[in-house]
Amino acid sequence: MAKVTVSTLAKMKREHNKITALTAYDASFAKLFDDNGVDVVLVGDSLGMVLQGADDTLAVTNADIAYHTRCVRAGSKELFVVADMPFMTYANPTQACENAAELMRAGANMVKLEGGEWLLDSIRALTQQGIPVCGHLGLTPQSVHVFGGFKIQGRGDNQAERMIADAKALENAGAQLLVVECIPASLAKRISQALTIPVIGIGAGKDTDGQILVMHDLVGISAGYIPKFSKNFLAETGNMPDAVKKYCQDVKSGAFPTSEHEFN
Ligand code: KIV
Ligand code: NA
Repeated sequence: MAKVTVSTLAKMKREHNKITALTAYDASFAKLFDDNGVDVVLVGDSLGMVLQGADDTLAVTNADIAYHTRCVRAGSKELFVVADMPFMTYANPTQACENAAELMRAGANMVKLEGGEWLLDSIRALTQQGIPVCGHLGLTPQSVHVFGGFKIQGRGDNQAERMIADAKALENAGAQLLVVECIPASLAKRISQALTIPVIGIGAGKDTDGQILVMHDLVGISAGYIPKFSKNFLAETGNMPDAVKKYCQDVKSGAFPTSEHEFN
């Protein structure tokens, strides 16, 4: 596939061409996703749960993400690779720059940080140093203990208005992409319309500029339970390449997600 850059992603939003994204943690899946139409791959700290078997993402280290970013990059030179910054690796701008540099050197094209307004100085510092930033709002799993569980965020007018303000602040500070996770579909739509940068949703309804799933959910092998917002594309296609193609087709056409995958 043609090389995807931040400019490609911005253009896709302008042209209402939905962005398809999946998590990947190794070379084989990175190549499979590249070959079958995925625009963006995230080396997510979800690897703490789906690869390491933990109950949350907190124990993942920067070295873990760097290792899996090298694996993913080895599978494809062309993929646009976003690498997650783990819990407590970006507590201040200096620490954020040092840790993000390791991920960029491992082959990432962009790093992703969870949080709102408190991150603005770090986002400015990272972009000034040449490191593109993806924001992440809503159910940010690194804050699971503050939320008291994996719960839908952004319900109610106050929370919604605060999230829209946070999203605009991240964009103004230099973020070039935003993930919104497990928020009401109506709020995700408002955030996508309010921003110039592309917004990629997971459990956020159909009106974002793109979709992302954890790859294990796409093929129905997640440990524990299958989240309401995900769909097993392997069940209806019978093989991995077609499952990935079908996911991309359905995101592009608007056939996925449907109202049964969203929160209100
Ligand atoms: O770690 C991850 O897989 C993520 C996605 C769910 C957005 O952050
Ligand atoms: Na993550």
